[in-house]
Amino acid sequence: MTDLPEALRDGLDAALAGFPPTRLSSGVQRLMSAYRSGGPASAPILRSDVDVAAYAAYRMPATFAAVRAALRQVAEAVPDWAPRSLSDVGGGTGAAAWAAVAAFPSLRAVTVLDQVAAALTFGRRLARHSAEPALRGAAWQRWRAGADVPAADLVTIAYLLGELTPAQQETVLTAALATGGAIAVIEPGTPEGYRRVLAARAALLAHGHTIVAPCPHQLGCPLETGDWCHFPARVPRSALHRQLKAGQLGWEDEKFALVVAMPGPPPAVPGRVLRHPRYRKNLVTLQVCTAAGTTATATVTKREGQRYRAARDVSWGDAWPPT
Ligand SMILES: C[S@@+](CC[C@H](N)C(=O)[O-])C[C@H]1O[C@@H](n2cnc3c(N)ncnc32)[C@H](O)[C@@H]1O
Repeated sequence: MTDLPEALRDGLDAALAGFPPTRLSSGVQRLMSAYRSGGPASAPILRSDVDVAAYAAYRMPATFAAVRAALRQVAEAVPDWAPRSLSDVGGGTGAAAWAAVAAFPSLRAVTVLDQVAAALTFGRRLARHSAEPALRGAAWQRWRAGADVPAADLVTIAYLLGELTPAQQETVLTAALATGGAIAVIEPGTPEGYRRVLAARAALLAHGHTIVAPCPHQLGCPLETGDWCHFPARVPRSALHRQLKAGQLGWEDEKFALVVAMPGPPPAVPGRVLRHPRYRKNLVTLQVCTAAGTTATATVTKREGQRYRAARDVSWGDAWPPT
């Protein structure tokens, strides 16, 4: 379970207290149907302070958890990497910036870029609750897809590409690559989100960047036909979620797709678990993406001792075998 940092939870509670729950609920309903309809947005989806608050309440815990999980894969793949600056592109209320600061305590300078001023204002208010100087002192800048991205060691592009046309997606990636930094693209874990990630992956490779997550190789994706690469991040449901989805579980799995690339040599990731492991008596079965650019089924029996104990501990999205 990926809980929100306490400071972010406190900030959200304080910021949301000013909005009547019924207005938040109707804001969430409107956003849910806007996001479900999919496709590039011809006008900003976040149109008012209520929309921004509803987005923060309804989506920030999930997008925080997804970006946190994506960047965990990076921190494990390149453990010595310590980025100092972040540009969070289409950063909205700053969920990815919070996740990046949690993943990389080395971050000192954070810039959040978005077209919606109300989202940036809301995000700045939330960030004041953080004890991290990088978040408290973050720059919150109006920005439109097509404009340059400020140079940074890490550029996060989380849940943005789906709101852009393919041409805009390409322009944003080109601007991100011009920073010379690592690029992390996170999208919903749907077949469509995966397709956008695949296109981004191709552009990152063509530029000469090295894929560091999730792929344990620099080759074509073996899931390209008939499947899609995605991972889960378990998120506690907020009070608002529970109100909207009465009677359901206290948590949900946010599925996300990702690609992260940076200049430099490939990391030594042996393989990546692609599905929930299956357990039978004295047997664990893992579906793995391998360093050879293929998928394989690893069956690990109790007789294998330490390897079996390791297999029982891994989860969907972890490296396999553990490094
Ligand atoms: C789904 S939200 C994601 C926000 C944040 N990255 C997160 O993960 O929670 C998409 C964000 O992209 C911004 N956005 C969409 N189209 C944009 C554009 N053409 N130029 C700049 N920002 C844009 C929206 O304003 C919104 O804040």
